[in-house]
Amino acid sequence: MNINIAHIRTSDTMPSLAVIGSQWGDEGKGKIIDYLDEDADMIVRFQGGNNAGHTIVVGDTVFKLHGLPSGVVRPGKLAVIGNGCVMNIEELLEEIEQVEQAGGSVDGLRISDRVSLIMNYHKKLDGAQEKYKGGKKVGTTGKGIGPSYEDKIARIGFRAGDLLEKETLEEKIKVVLPYKKDLMNMLEAEGCSCTVESLLDKMLGWGKKLGDHIVDTSVLINEGLDAGKKVMFEGAQGAMLDIDHGTYPYVTSSATMAGGVCTGAGIAPSRLDTVMGVVKAYTTRVGEGPFVTELEGEAHDYLQKRGHEVGVTTGRGRRCGWLDLVVVNHANRMCGFNSLAITKLDVLNDYEEVKVCTEYEIDGVKTKYFPGSIRKLERAKPVYTTLKGWKGWEDTEAVVKGGYDNLPKEMKDYITFIEKSTGVPADIISVGPDRDETISRRKSYWA
Ligand code: GDP
Ligand code: IMO
Ligand code: MG
Repeated sequence: MNINIAHIRTSDTMPSLAVIGSQWGDEGKGKIIDYLDEDADMIVRFQGGNNAGHTIVVGDTVFKLHGLPSGVVRPGKLAVIGNGCVMNIEELLEEIEQVEQAGGSVDGLRISDRVSLIMNYHKKLDGAQEKYKGGKKVGTTGKGIGPSYEDKIARIGFRAGDLLEKETLEEKIKVVLPYKKDLMNMLEAEGCSCTVESLLDKMLGWGKKLGDHIVDTSVLINEGLDAGKKVMFEGAQGAMLDIDHGTYPYVTSSATMAGGVCTGAGIAPSRLDTVMGVVKAYTTRVGEGPFVTELEGEAHDYLQKRGHEVGVTTGRGRRCGWLDLVVVNHANRMCGFNSLAITKLDVLNDYEEVKVCTEYEIDGVKTKYFPGSIRKLERAKPVYTTLKGWKGWEDTEAVVKGGYDNLPKEMKDYITFIEKSTGVPADIISVGPDRDETISRRKSYWA
């Protein structure tokens, strides 16, 4: 009997690393992924689409990535869009052009044949659904993410592999297009003038442009892991935007937590080694929905300004508040973080005192668990621990040179507080947007 033992690895090899946002997105995942992926062979997106906005600063060049994996910033890597993602091809082609102009490369781009497509009608329906909800709108990015995932679940979506099969495409378009047109009429969405023939032509054109990049990425990733390649999984959004465990319905439409890596990239749970949670030193969220530690008035605006908290994808101002460890621990319970990266500690440089929320008080009862009910969340009051700030520290270069021990005591106390609350080591400390403004407390993330 032939037994395939290629996937059995010794306990001292650790070729996979997932980087997951532990809050409501925009934690600085792009920066951390870029910092860590120098040694990676493959960087894989496994959920979401171009609703993401990941900023990578390399010297004077700023990359703002949406649908493309961060691997495109370093030529020579495989950058994979996994089956769990949704993809708008026209916007991806525009993004590719921008990345190439900025010095990146998409030679290593591989797209899953099973990835779901975002069509123009999805964007129109996204807008129309938001309008329909009125005061209860989600505040989506308007990129058509929800409507595209709806079609996937309803089994009427287009997948990248369809672009390479004219008959499949034609069959599907004939069923889906009239249905979508009726739906758009009903929701009074902006109209769509395309016909079966024009859409077929357009989609076959996409297949010609991107066909060489479309493969079975689950096979690619698993064979890579079998061969000892280092694979990094790039989370988009954050734990609290997870479709099941986030602040539903004020969430995105995908599984943003570590479990999403397995279904969204096509790997087994046993193949996931390091799961790194990215924790912003304070909390932000874009769009609607409850936010227990949100600041108000001047205090809010001050933090938003210091942190340059403006959305990369939509340009909307991000709502800001103190660090909420009820949120981070909720994410940790489901993601099983075994490493943390704490970002934007420099933004809190100017405070005499900093606050951390450790529990909520709801109707007079304290809890450390994040409730599923939005109404309960709206009544939740934060229970804070106040710590001394590290005001006055400005010289980032000197501090980074000096390493962790050289950080101000108060900042180290803040970091230790997070480590104690979560039970997870803070391996990466980020004190600025650039690659160089980072302290690593671990020798390797792959062993
Ligand atoms: P992502 O979506 O998680 O990749 O995060 P975004 O790129 O949307 O937002 C994070 C912002 O903070 C970007 O502008 C980053 O360049 C910036 N950033 C990341 N880490 C740090 C840090 O440690 N300090 C400061 N000041 N900015 C940071
Ligand atoms: P990155 O990867 C922050 C939010 C939207 C909205 C909700 C649903 O940069 O961290 P959607 O368009 O996904 O249906 O919108 O999710 N959202 C994000 N917030 N960072 C993101 O991505 C986000 N992607 C979506 O603002 O509240
Ligand atoms: Mg972002």
